[in-house]
Amino acid sequence: MKHFVSMKHLTAGELLQLVQLATDIQVLGVSGYREQLFAANLFFEPSTRTKMSFTVAERKLGLEVLDFAAEASSVTKGETVYDTAKTLQSIGASVLVIRHPEEHTAAMLAEKLDIPVINAGDGKGEHPTQCLLDLMTIYQEYGRFEGLKIVIAGDIRHSRVARSNAMALRKLGAHVFAAGKSEWMDETLDIPVLSMDDAVEQCDVMMLLRIQFERHETKGGSAGYLDQYGLTKAREQKMQQRAIIMHPAPVNRGIEIDDSLVEAPRSRIFRQMENGVAARMAVIITLLEGWGIKHGYNLNKRETVNS
Ligand code: CP
Repeated sequence: MKHFVSMKHLTAGELLQLVQLATDIQVLGVSGYREQLFAANLFFEPSTRTKMSFTVAERKLGLEVLDFAAEASSVTKGETVYDTAKTLQSIGASVLVIRHPEEHTAAMLAEKLDIPVINAGDGKGEHPTQCLLDLMTIYQEYGRFEGLKIVIAGDIRHSRVARSNAMALRKLGAHVFAAGKSEWMDETLDIPVLSMDDAVEQCDVMMLLRIQFERHETKGGSAGYLDQYGLTKAREQKMQQRAIIMHPAPVNRGIEIDDSLVEAPRSRIFRQMENGVAARMAVIITLLEGWGIKHGYNLNKRETVNS
């Protein structure tokens, strides 16, 4: 594997192998690289958990982090994203992580650079490392994906998380559904729609999404949203005993989910964040291996998890 930009490019087997590696890393720990390696984190959009968990993942692997702030860089003088990324490669970055408001930016860089590129979120496009940590969270819970009923609920049209997860979960044999306001459904994903009331009763996983106010062309309020489309306490009571709540965060507390449910016993929202570190370590190890930079951990000797 050379880059990690879209779930389109991964097979079910590759996804399962990454979930297994991330799980092993979390359980067993893993040592750092012996040689000096640099990671460049180029975030052109705000981020808390993705940026910080990449930093932790890189440091745990012994990589030195080249932190980048667009507002304090030569981007302010008109330097392009490509020239910025090529500069980081030229000065020694071994891996490049990019978050950018425009779709396909990571894919464009992956075509042009000679180091692994990781998409940390591209506009409304994809968020593949969020997807991997979501897969890890679901696997920890159920030990499989095949046959699980997973509802992605909320602002699907503007969500890169929804796109990556819908693709990956279907490859892994899960039954994926959508729920939410009709104007926020995304017909390009081609997933069946359930009402929120049916969804809570039927799902194994309720994957809520943040309302992406910053991506809306017409700005509307959120009054009444929780009662109509969100996860209220009454709806949570109707969930199956074992069903879990997920959300990529940041959470609009009291809008897509009742404030008290964010840390409810069935919520895995903070577990998702915890899993983000091991998931990103697994991606970095796998990509560097794809470019001939070997880690002591032998990927080939492990068995993959069952779907
Ligand atoms: N889930 C996620 O991508 O969060 P951040 O925007 O804080 O990175």
